[in-house]
Amino acid sequence: RTMTQDELKTLVGQAALQYVVPGEIVGVGTGSTVNKFIDALATMKDRIKGAVSSSEASTKRLTALGITVFDSNEVAELSVYIDGADEIDARGYMIKGGGAALTREKIVAAQSRQFVCIADESKLVPTLGKFPLPVEVIPMATQRLIRQFATLGGRATVRLADGQPLVTDNGQHLLDVTGLQISDPLAFESQVNQWPGVVTVGVFAHQKAHVCLLGTAGGVKTLK
Ligand code: A5P
Repeated sequence: RTMTQDELKTLVGQAALQYVVPGEIVGVGTGSTVNKFIDALATMKDRIKGAVSSSEASTKRLTALGITVFDSNEVAELSVYIDGADEIDARGYMIKGGGAALTREKIVAAQSRQFVCIADESKLVPTLGKFPLPVEVIPMATQRLIRQFATLGGRATVRLADGQPLVTDNGQHLLDVTGLQISDPLAFESQVNQWPGVVTVGVFAHQKAHVCLLGTAGGVKTLK
């Protein structure tokens, strides 16, 4: 019997425990794969100091399981940040933000020495861009940014929730951009970061994954 995607997520969520440093605070991402990691983390909650969380959703889950959540301003550098991805390439460059938490994810990733990505094998791609690229934007800049993405061949739409623009944890809006082929993620991230009104672009190249635990039919594959 082949494993379901859900089972692969559980597998990599548990495998990530080996990167958690006892006695320390761990950086925690967002998403269905990270939820499996959080559940696994609860089994060693007495051996860690706590977590810095990348979303209201993860904070809720961590707190419910009795794991202390610290504000990112309360701690300096973290040894490790564990998060999922919407797409990852062989170099560790990623698209993230499918769960709308990209800004806080990038902040906590930047605060961490090592990014451990946990993903099922469907996330591994040769070139980033098939998954619609999430971009958090200041609402005032939305229409101009849609035109900016069009100059790169991208089609950007405002992400909706219940028919209204989705409001992020930071009170901003999200664009999802299709039609991009991001062959140079570092340059692309730098370029889009220059556009006024962009809060965070969901390309994680400057904050790339150092390790990827990939859930495959043959078990967990570690890519470095
Ligand atoms: C959240 O904003 C995203 O960056 C997630 O890391 C990404 O969407 C992966 O989520 P799943 O683990 O649910 O696929």
